[in-house]
Amino acid sequence: MTSLDGAALTRVGHRVTTDDGRSFDCPTGDTLLRAALRAGVAATYECNSGGCGTCKYTLSSGSVHQLDPDAPGLTPRDKRKGKMLGCQSIPLTDCEVSLVAGEAWYDGHTPPRHLRAQVTDVASLTHDLREVTLRTDGPADFLPGQFAMLSADAVPVHHGSPGDAPRRLERAYSMSNLPNPQGVWQFQIKRVPNGAVSPIFVDRLAPGDTVTIDGPYGHAHLRSTERDVVVVAGGSGLAPMVSVARGLAARPDAARRRLDFFYGGRGAQDMCAGAFVEEVSAALHSATLVEAVSTPADAADDGWTGPRGYIHELIGFDSLPDLADREIYVAGPPPMTDAVVRMLVLDLGISTDNIHYDKFF
Ligand SMILES: Cc1cc2nc3c(=O)[nH]c(=O)nc-3n(C[C@H](O)[C@H](O)[C@H](O)COP(=O)(O)OP(=O)(O)OC[C@H]3O[C@@H](n4cnc5c(N)ncnc54)[C@H](O)[C@@H]3O)c2cc1C
Ligand code: FES
Repeated sequence: MTSLDGAALTRVGHRVTTDDGRSFDCPTGDTLLRAALRAGVAATYECNSGGCGTCKYTLSSGSVHQLDPDAPGLTPRDKRKGKMLGCQSIPLTDCEVSLVAGEAWYDGHTPPRHLRAQVTDVASLTHDLREVTLRTDGPADFLPGQFAMLSADAVPVHHGSPGDAPRRLERAYSMSNLPNPQGVWQFQIKRVPNGAVSPIFVDRLAPGDTVTIDGPYGHAHLRSTERDVVVVAGGSGLAPMVSVARGLAARPDAARRRLDFFYGGRGAQDMCAGAFVEEVSAALHSATLVEAVSTPADAADDGWTGPRGYIHELIGFDSLPDLADREIYVAGPPPMTDAVVRMLVLDLGISTDNIHYDKFF
């Protein structure tokens, strides 16, 4: 959905003024949303990819190019009312906009920036999931659970409107490791059949290749509270939950902290969370793993002897009596994330303050 080539950005750009008196420079080629976040303006967003609609705004004056005018984050009603998506809008002139102000910045907030990285390793986690390790010259600054927008030289260039600079396609991928001064970034990328970008990362990326990182982004990062933790991951949502688990295990009070890790995949061949939970278990008071496959037994001959069904069906007060007192992190495809959050809030009455999620549009 989103296409933007970091290398195409220049400092010369346009001035954006918001109706509540904030203003910032938008470098040529940058999106309204990213320029706001880079300038320290806390605007609301989630996916940064055109899928969620959280970054809707109204343009009062000036003009913008919309990267994907048909992005699913905008409903026909939104379009009739003149709404646009900040993550899909590139200012072509100075602009006046009404952006929705986000929450105040969290502790450890790092503004997103562009970095060039080299691939140092690509490892297979399953038949369609690769762990890609990148190295940047500077430190890897992010919070466990956040994501970055990635592009690679091997990814096709997208030609937008006439006169517009060609842009390389990019996608959101979550870091699976922890921030570090050495500049090591790890991602777990799942092949989406016929996808424009993920098959290139999964099947063609090799050590020595160059990747552009733009980040960090995202709000579903590990909170610095005293609460024990539950993580729920589905499919490609494993990476940020591994990072959250590793972040918990790296805390000074890790030996007192409990982690319950839930992972759902389609079939037995998708299950790979065990090694990550085992890795953190030595540092924690306890770490349990529950994995479920969604393919019914009569449709699969995969030897799976564990639970079958959707992962949210296995979470509840029976297995976790203190669930309401936990920090709960959720990541994965929108239907899975919606089902988990709905069940936690509507069926179990868990406070939304305790639930942190990213939907992988
Ligand atoms: C905040 C965020 C974090 C993300 N983190 C990760 C991550 O850590 N690892 C990871 O592998 N992916 C992650 N994703 C998903 C990723 O950004 C891409 O959407 C995904 O790789 C598909 O890109 P594509 O170009 O191959 O497919 P596209 O060409 O964009 O899409 C092709 C088709 O596949 C559908 N599709 C898109 N994504 C999926 C999916 N995940 N499952 C099934 N169908 C899909 C689309 O609706 C479309 O119909 C994340 C997304 C978001 C918004
Ligand atoms: S942040 Fe723009 S649509 Fe999700």
